[in-house]
Amino acid sequence: MALLELKHVDISYGKMLIVKDCNLTLDEGEICSIVGESGSGKTTVIRAVLGLLSGQGQVTAGDIFYDGQNLLRFDRKHWRDLRGHDISMIFQDSGAMMNQTRRIGHTYVEYIRTHEKITKKDAWEKGKMMLERMRLPDSERVMRSYPFQLSGGMRQRVGIAMGMTYQPKLLLADEPTSALDVTTQAQIVRQMMELRDEYGTSIIIVTHNIGVAAYMGDKIVVMKDGEIVEQGDRDQILNKSTNPYTTMLMDAVPSLGGARYV
Ligand SMILES: Nc1ncnc2c1ncn2[C@@H]1O[C@H](COP(=O)(O)OP(=O)(O)OP(=O)(O)O)[C@@H](O)[C@H]1O
Ligand SMILES: [Mg+2]
Repeated sequence: MALLELKHVDISYGKMLIVKDCNLTLDEGEICSIVGESGSGKTTVIRAVLGLLSGQGQVTAGDIFYDGQNLLRFDRKHWRDLRGHDISMIFQDSGAMMNQTRRIGHTYVEYIRTHEKITKKDAWEKGKMMLERMRLPDSERVMRSYPFQLSGGMRQRVGIAMGMTYQPKLLLADEPTSALDVTTQAQIVRQMMELRDEYGTSIIIVTHNIGVAAYMGDKIVVMKDGEIVEQGDRDQILNKSTNPYTTMLMDAVPSLGGARYV
C-alpha cells in the first residue's frame, strides 16, 4: 500500500477551481519532486495534504489517503496528532515562521512539549541533539540565539531539525533551499536525503531548481496551470519525455560533459 495517495483531487479557493484532477502516489522511503512554473499549484497541493490550505482553500473533490486513512475525514484532534508526528512540513524560510522575539531553544522546547510529556531540561537536550544531527555546530549557542542572530542556512537547518524531531513518515518541503547560497543548498539537499536513508522518510519536495528536483526525486511531477502535465520516474522525465513542457523544463538542468549534475 502506498504511504500517500491523492485520487482525482480538485482544490478551490472560494469559487476559483485551482488544482484539477490531481493524482499522485508516494511509497514509503520514496522522494517525489514537484516542479512547474510559479502559480501552477505546487504549494496548494502539498498544503492540502497537511490540511493547511490558506484562505478559502478547500479540497472540493477526490480523496487523499495517508497510510490507508482518508485525511479528508479527519477532525481537528486527528490532524493535531498527525502533524509533526507523522507528517511534517518545512517552508522556504523556516526562520521567518519562528517567533522572532523568542530564543530558538524556547520555541523548540515548547514545540517538543506539545508533542510529549517531558521536562524542560530533557526537551532542551533533545532539541540540542536534533540540531547536532543537522550538523549545526555549537548547538548550545544556537539554542540560546534569537532567529535573527543566525544565518539563513542555520535557520533552515533549525527548521528541518524541528520538522524531523519525531521522525515523521512524510516530510513536505516547500522550496526549502531557495533562499540559500549554492553550497548551503547542496548540504541541505544531502541532509534531507540522509534522513530518507536513515529513517525511511518519504519526501515531497517542491522546488524551482530543476537540478535539485532531478537529483533528489525518485519520481518527478510536472505541474502547469493547476494540472499535472506529466509524472514518472526520474529517468523517464529527465531523458525520455516527449512532452514539450517537460522537455523545455528539463533542458534547464545543467549538464557537464554530458552528465547532469546539481
Ligand atoms: N489563499 C489563496 N487565496 C486565493 N488564491 C490562492 C491562494 N493561495 C494560492 N492561490 C492561487 O492558487 C494558484 C496556485 O498557487 P500556489 O501557491 O499553489 O502556486 P505555486 O505553484 O506554489 O507557485 P510558486 O512557485 O510561485 O510558489 C495561484 O493562482 C494563486 O493565485
Ligand atoms: Mg509555492
